[in-house]
Amino acid sequence: MALREGVGPFGALRYTARDLATRARRRVTTQQETQLMVLTPDFATRPVISFQHVHKTYPTGTEALRDVNLEVPEGDFLFLVGPSGAGKSTLVRLLIREEKPTRGKIFVDGIELGRMKRRKLPYYRRKVGLVFQDFKLLPNLTVFENIAFAMRVLGEPDHKVQARVAEALDTVSLSGKENSYPSSLSGGEQQRVAIARALVHAPRFIIADEPTGNLDPATAWEIMQLFLRINARGATVVMATHNREIVDLLRRRVIAIDAGQIARDDRSGRYHEDVAKPQVRAQ
Ligand SMILES: Nc1ncnc2c1ncn2[C@@H]1O[C@H](COP(=O)(O)OP(=O)(O)OP(=O)(O)O)[C@@H](O)[C@H]1O
Ligand SMILES: [Mg+2]
Repeated sequence: MALREGVGPFGALRYTARDLATRARRRVTTQQETQLMVLTPDFATRPVISFQHVHKTYPTGTEALRDVNLEVPEGDFLFLVGPSGAGKSTLVRLLIREEKPTRGKIFVDGIELGRMKRRKLPYYRRKVGLVFQDFKLLPNLTVFENIAFAMRVLGEPDHKVQARVAEALDTVSLSGKENSYPSSLSGGEQQRVAIARALVHAPRFIIADEPTGNLDPATAWEIMQLFLRINARGATVVMATHNREIVDLLRRRVIAIDAGQIARDDRSGRYHEDVAKPQVRAQ
């Protein structure tokens, strides 16, 4: 057990760090031999993400989310699970303000997303690192330029761009691939570039929609280790996934969505409800 002080926007937060290495070593893949520090966020502090009676009905009439209430403390790591069509991606799209709720309110970092001015959106999106199943890299740009792209748009000075991109590439262990094009990289490497692209802004949140969906199990674990490391540095992670093995091994907070509603919210959960063992409820 080790303790770490993290300073969040609402003052000092105390995290309890747990070492997952023993659990990870029981598995065969080398990726899991890496030491994993797992932080338990403080549920007593003000949440950084809050959904209050959120409904989302698409113009087609589909009720994708119904009365969703959710509080996420800073530094949390949560999995969104549930059957196809349950509403996971809709929740993610609301969170990154790609969609607005039909009813209800969403607060991120104390700001109500529905009231955010259009011109503030780019600033908001920079606080949020996005990672998708299909990587969404620009095919005609090199790895370096893909990662640097948003910083260039903002007119950041060259030396800063160089330093930040190099640091992000180092974090995802892709130093040396700066001049490669996405098409010459494996799926796992492409996803690591996408994560590096998210990291250059030092995001407070990582929002991922099935980031391991297109990857083989070993590569999926590499990506998960990256997310855990980013979370251990203090970022709040929200990840929609169908990957049962990952969810069951990591035992982090699991929110199960079913037909647009939160069916389950377990602080140390599994992919499927575990009736044998009582769970600690998140709230
Ligand atoms: N842009 C849209 N317009 C209309 N209906 C939509 C739209 N996007 C999603 N839906 C519908 O909303 C419901 C929830 O979809 P959503 O994509 O959030 O599910 P999901 O849980 O992410 O599923 P999957 O696991 O397959 O990715 C589904 O019935 C879907 O058909
Ligand atoms: Mg989805």
